[in-house]
Amino acid sequence: MKNKILLLLLSVVFLALISIDKHESSFPKYFPKPVYQFEQNQSNDLKIELGRTLFYDPILSLDNTISCASCHNPYNAFAHVDHNLSHGINDKIGKRNAPVLFNLAWHKSFMWDGAINHLDVQALAPISHPDEMGETMSNVLLKLNRNQIYKQLFYQAYGDSQINTERTLKSISQFLLSLISSNSKYDSMLLGKIQFNTQEQNGYRLFKLHCNFCHKEPLFSDFSFKNNGLSLDTSLNDFGRYSISLLPNDSFKFKVPTLRNVEFSYPYMHDGRFKTLAQVMNHYNSIDLKNKKISTELQRNLNLSSNEKVDIIAFLRTLTDKKFLFNPQHAYPKK
Ligand code: HEC
Ligand code: HEC
Repeated sequence: MKNKILLLLLSVVFLALISIDKHESSFPKYFPKPVYQFEQNQSNDLKIELGRTLFYDPILSLDNTISCASCHNPYNAFAHVDHNLSHGINDKIGKRNAPVLFNLAWHKSFMWDGAINHLDVQALAPISHPDEMGETMSNVLLKLNRNQIYKQLFYQAYGDSQINTERTLKSISQFLLSLISSNSKYDSMLLGKIQFNTQEQNGYRLFKLHCNFCHKEPLFSDFSFKNNGLSLDTSLNDFGRYSISLLPNDSFKFKVPTLRNVEFSYPYMHDGRFKTLAQVMNHYNSIDLKNKKISTELQRNLNLSSNEKVDIIAFLRTLTDKKFLFNPQHAYPKK
């Protein structure tokens, strides 16, 4: 009798454990509730692996030369460091810098201007963009259906070998959702495992004073759109959020980027105009107070000394997550 009850209890615990989505159990308790609805795209390791294979495969582009990873490099937190603006098929140059890819389940919208409102359709944008992969989804499906390896991968992930748009896109989301960065020095500090040195501590204090409004802990973004005082690059004429909402108030607003792994995601800003964090600090320290379009949080003189700027940068380096950057499960699949 006792044994039966124990067995029953154990199976209840087991069922409770497997009903928690894999992604949902992979981030720390101090992260807020994700926006992405995991129950609408049940994860398993084979779907994640299929998504990873697709992410690294140039088959998604018109001339089979460009993969997602061509612009999103794992060792740079999936940003693109060679270029300030992205490079697609036939050396075509886009108008924006490729952002980092991790902790995407918390984003309310995607792209620098929030043009895309769901992660599951995000991949359609680069696939069909003439300056990126220049391909059509129907042709991608034709190519995947002709490929025996993909037939097998879809079969393993979904139980039959049907390859359609929804499965392709949701598998890519599965891989993207598996990219969680939460193992930085900052995280160890939060968990009480280590202490910051004096410089990092002072940088953290200043960060909370000047930066945390928008680059909100613990994800280092509130995912809102803000104008952080950059001047317009007249060769690009990028008005950011305004081109989506058409609200005059939104002109020059861009989505607040996360600062996790920022040490490795240079160049910075939507157009990659700054190469170093020192340049970024100089920008924030010399905001043009006559420009009333700048978001209110920055309508003041920060008056940072050179030491203080260095301290903030020392703090930003504590957001580097080496375990994430060099995780073999995120890298190019070996097969
Ligand atoms: C030619 C370079 C290029 C390729 C190829 C590319 N991307 Fe991107 N990606 C970018 C750029 C640039 C942006 C920002 C675009 C914007 O804001 O308008 C971006 C944005 C994103 C975002 C939004 C991130 C955020 O913070 O809002 C995701 C997710 C993403 N890409 C995933 C992918 C996937 C998946 C693929 C492959 C199907 C892919 N990208 C292929 C350059 C590229
Ligand atoms: C009013 C909100 C706001 C405040 C306050 C703010 N930022 Fe930003 N930050 C932004 C926005 C928006 C961007 C993206 C702007 C763009 O690309 O056009 C950005 C971009 C950055 C980037 C570039 C990241 C990347 O991946 O390209 C860094 C680094 C940065 N901020 C650091 C800081 C620091 C350090 C502070 C405090 C001194 C700070 N920010 C204060 C809104 C803010």
